Amino acid sequence: MGFLQIQFLNLLAILVIIASSPSSLSATPPNFPIAKPNCTDRCGNLSIPYPFGTTPDCYQSHSFFVTCNHSFSPPRAFIQNSSVEITDISRDGQLRVLPFIARNCYSRNGTNVYSNRPLIQLSRSFTVNNTANKLTIIGCDTYGFITGRRLNGNYSTGCIATCDSMNDLTQGSCTGLGCCQAPIPKEVWSVRLRLGSLENYTSVWSFNNCSYAFLMEESAFRFSPENLTNLRNVKKLPMVVDWAIGNGTCKEAKRNASSYACKSVNSKCYKPDNGYGYRCSCLKGYQGNPYLIGGCQDVNECEDSHLNICEKRCVNTIGDFHCACPKGYHGDGRKDGQGCINGESLAFKLATGIASGIIVLLLIAAWLRVGLKRRRKIKTRQMFFLQNGGILLQEKITRRRKSSNAATIFSELELQKATNNFHKDTIIGQGGFGTVYKGFLSDNRIVAIKKSKKVNPDQVEQFINEVIILSQINHRNVVKLLGCCLETEVPLLVYEFISNGTLFEHVHDETKTHFLSWEMRLKIATETANVLAYLHSAASTPIIHRDVKSANILLDDNLTAKVSDFGDSRLVPLDQTQLSTMVHGTSGYLDPEYMQTNKLTAKSDVYSFGVVLVELLTGKTALSFARPEEDRNLANLFLSVMKQERLFEILEDNVVKQENNEQLRKVAMVAKSCLYVKGDDRPSMKEVAMELEGLMLGEKHPRIQTEHSGEDKESMLEAGFSGSINVGEGNSISIGFDTVEDHIVLPEGRGR
Ligand SMILES: *[C@@H]1O[C@H](CO)[C@@H](O)[C@H](O)[C@H]1NC(C)=O
Ligand SMILES: *[C@@H]1O[C@H](CO)[C@@H](O)[C@H](O)[C@H]1NC(C)=O
Ligand SMILES: *[C@@H]1O[C@H](CO)[C@@H](O)[C@H](O)[C@H]1NC(C)=O
Ligand SMILES: *[C@@H]1O[C@H](CO)[C@@H](O)[C@H](O)[C@H]1NC(C)=O
Ligand SMILES: *[C@@H]1O[C@H](CO)[C@@H](O)[C@H](O)[C@H]1NC(C)=O
Ligand SMILES: *[C@@H]1O[C@H](CO)[C@@H](O)[C@H](O)[C@H]1NC(C)=O
Ligand SMILES: *[C@@H]1O[C@H](CO)[C@@H](O)[C@H](O)[C@H]1NC(C)=O
Ligand SMILES: *[C@@H]1O[C@H](CO)[C@@H](O)[C@H](O)[C@H]1NC(C)=O
Ligand SMILES: *[C@@H]1O[C@H](CO)[C@@H](O)[C@H](O)[C@H]1NC(C)=O
Ligand SMILES: *[C@@H]1O[C@H](CO)[C@@H](O)[C@H](O)[C@H]1NC(C)=O
Ligand SMILES: *[C@@H]1O[C@H](CO)[C@@H](O)[C@H](O)[C@H]1NC(C)=O
Ligand SMILES: *[C@@H]1O[C@H](CO)[C@@H](O)[C@H](O)[C@H]1NC(C)=O
Repeated sequence: MGFLQIQFLNLLAILVIIASSPSSLSATPPNFPIAKPNCTDRCGNLSIPYPFGTTPDCYQSHSFFVTCNHSFSPPRAFIQNSSVEITDISRDGQLRVLPFIARNCYSRNGTNVYSNRPLIQLSRSFTVNNTANKLTIIGCDTYGFITGRRLNGNYSTGCIATCDSMNDLTQGSCTGLGCCQAPIPKEVWSVRLRLGSLENYTSVWSFNNCSYAFLMEESAFRFSPENLTNLRNVKKLPMVVDWAIGNGTCKEAKRNASSYACKSVNSKCYKPDNGYGYRCSCLKGYQGNPYLIGGCQDVNECEDSHLNICEKRCVNTIGDFHCACPKGYHGDGRKDGQGCINGESLAFKLATGIASGIIVLLLIAAWLRVGLKRRRKIKTRQMFFLQNGGILLQEKITRRRKSSNAATIFSELELQKATNNFHKDTIIGQGGFGTVYKGFLSDNRIVAIKKSKKVNPDQVEQFINEVIILSQINHRNVVKLLGCCLETEVPLLVYEFISNGTLFEHVHDETKTHFLSWEMRLKIATETANVLAYLHSAASTPIIHRDVKSANILLDDNLTAKVSDFGDSRLVPLDQTQLSTMVHGTSGYLDPEYMQTNKLTAKSDVYSFGVVLVELLTGKTALSFARPEEDRNLANLFLSVMKQERLFEILEDNVVKQENNEQLRKVAMVAKSCLYVKGDDRPSMKEVAMELEGLMLGEKHPRIQTEHSGEDKESMLEAGFSGSINVGEGNSISIGFDTVEDHIVLPEGRGR
């Protein structure tokens, strides 16, 4: 009877929801600036986006200078100080301009009474768009041609148009009778238009006494016989010009961050089809002016029904959106997917069903049938739940109820729904460890769901312990573990979703690296050091991360560091300071002492952190087979450079500034001390964190004694470390074996 009651309440709830129609989300319309602050962005009716501008501080370079002549009404814009008028500027890299056309006129006796030969000359950064424009010649006894200059040489092209009478001419047909067209090549920046006649117009003069030549936007022109006479009054016709920044490639341009034009963080650089140079565009999901700092802004896809495919509710996120269904509805909410399945038909059944009572019977029958089927499925789920230590976890959770941060146990169904049944479109990371999915929980939280590789049943207790511990770490610089799901064969871990990628990407991806200033780098390093120090000492049971590397430091929208991936981490019982374990970690970051002794201490994290610090300083990867053998390992390279006092030769270009040399030198000394070959010589994470914090705040005196009197501490280089390491999947390496059998490797994972 209890079941019936519940079903009944559910249906009532659905009815209530149907009655209250879904509310639409409202937001203020975006107002994207297109020009620099305090710059005019208009000339008459023309909008002028940066890099174009009308005054010196407002354009990117002289090429993009626009003269706005206010003696016309409305005012007219011209390219630089030329006579070429601009009628449209598109941020996609085109301009529409109005150059003069060429005209030749003859008198009855065959003398040329009017002739001009206009020159269209574009400056650097502009080329004639070769796909949109065609050379067009109009006349009945004429040939026209252009001679011009391309970026690498000269060219010339033309065509002949003749006719014997007006009857030859056809509306819309430009095929040699009274009208001909010729395509032009790419990379044209200068054009001279010329006209000539075969017979001095003597035989056609009675119906045609002038000929014309122009480069015109093909789609705007349709030949009409009347053009033989009505072009007489036309001086200028529209042409499409392509524009681009500079004359180098994207790669070359990115080398100089101060002159690189794609200033918006959410922009990318691309090569135009025509001409030299590069252009910028906003990333997918953003719109605005990519050439301005902060120019690309999030598109609120939810405001425009053309941009989203949501049936009922749309939730805008930065750079993206997702669909949701109102409470009581289910489905993925997408018009191209399941949509939102509501209870309308059920409601109808209920109305009649309650009256007749039949519906109740049907429900019972249906439930019995589904129930039998489901019971089998539930049994397998329960089996996995038990196998994965669910009871243990439940027990621990009940015991720790007091803590509001304790792990949540998610059901498999919930996570299937969140990821559209683990659809491949929701995958955000993949590797040897398993797969990471992006999921939307029904309460609109965005999460990252990690599906690990198979777990050895013996390891379950340790796994549970870790889930419990991690879910209790509530540090702003640790990616929060929200919970897990134990009903599947392999446990699923649910983390908060961090939007801005890994530190690795930000340091090594060319499109991002120059946005990462030295101050940001130092801030990220300090945050990471602080959180590691916290894990080593402040957490209730000390935790050694074991896999500190830039790929495991995620960044949020404010570039706040979030340490992730505790798949390899170890809890260290308070009465022990070291653990013997199978060596685990990532080559390039791995503590050489730990590799040799298999003894894991907190100092191994210090070493790995040192490597990350060097990465931040130099912008080089921790391990690169592109470097000569002795320099493959970044730690080695760095130490040898430090020894030769050539530090400033390997620092990343855009971190070095005049005023921060001393700070850089001190951070490098901290990195060096972290890389000492003997763990005992390295500073503790706490000391490193305090030192970095001090440097960040501009403190003068170092806390860590990095210059040693007397016996020089061995760094990895001096110890002649050259362990041969075999690099396996995901760059992880495993060498050596446990001395104590009961320490085991946890579900491993890299990424989110
Ligand atoms: C813009 O102009 C205002 C007032 O003229 C001035 O206070 C402000 O500093 C200017 N901003 C910039 C970025 O030049
Ligand atoms: C300028 O814009 C106004 C209003 O949008 C319009 O009426 C006018 O015709 C436009 N003038 C030109 C030259 O395009
Ligand atoms: C504006 O146009 C007028 C008429 O063509 C011309 O005389 C004047 O020199 C122009 N002014 C500027 C600033 O180019
Ligand atoms: C445009 O300005 C440049 C220098 O600013 C000058 O050399 C050139 O002669 C000018 N051209 C015209 C058409 O006024
Ligand atoms: C060309 O013909 C038009 C009429 O079609 C006439 O008005 C014009 O004067 C002629 N031009 C010359 C140069 O004869
Ligand atoms: C041809 O006509 C023009 C004016 O129409 C006249 O000036 C010229 O002298 C004539 N030439 C001859 C050879 O008749
Ligand atoms: C192109 O033509 C110009 C004159 O029109 C000449 O000075 C130049 O040398 C030519 N360039 C080449 C590559 O032929
Ligand atoms: C066309 O006129 C030019 C001079 O105006 C003359 O040299 C040429 O012979 C004429 N051609 C014909 C075919 O009449
Ligand atoms: C050609 O003639 C048609 C019909 O009179 C006219 O609409 C069109 O504007 C003319 N084309 C050009 C380029 O002037
Ligand atoms: C690009 O421009 C610079 C000066 O602005 C010039 O020195 C260089 O030769 C140009 N490169 C090419 C390929 O045109
Ligand atoms: C980078 O660009 C700026 C501004 O264009 C220029 O002053 C500087 O010399 C360039 N630096 C290098 C290394 O090319
Ligand atoms: C020419 O302009 C069109 C837009 O009018 C643009 O789509 C196309 O890419 C341009 N072609 C080249 C070669 O840049």
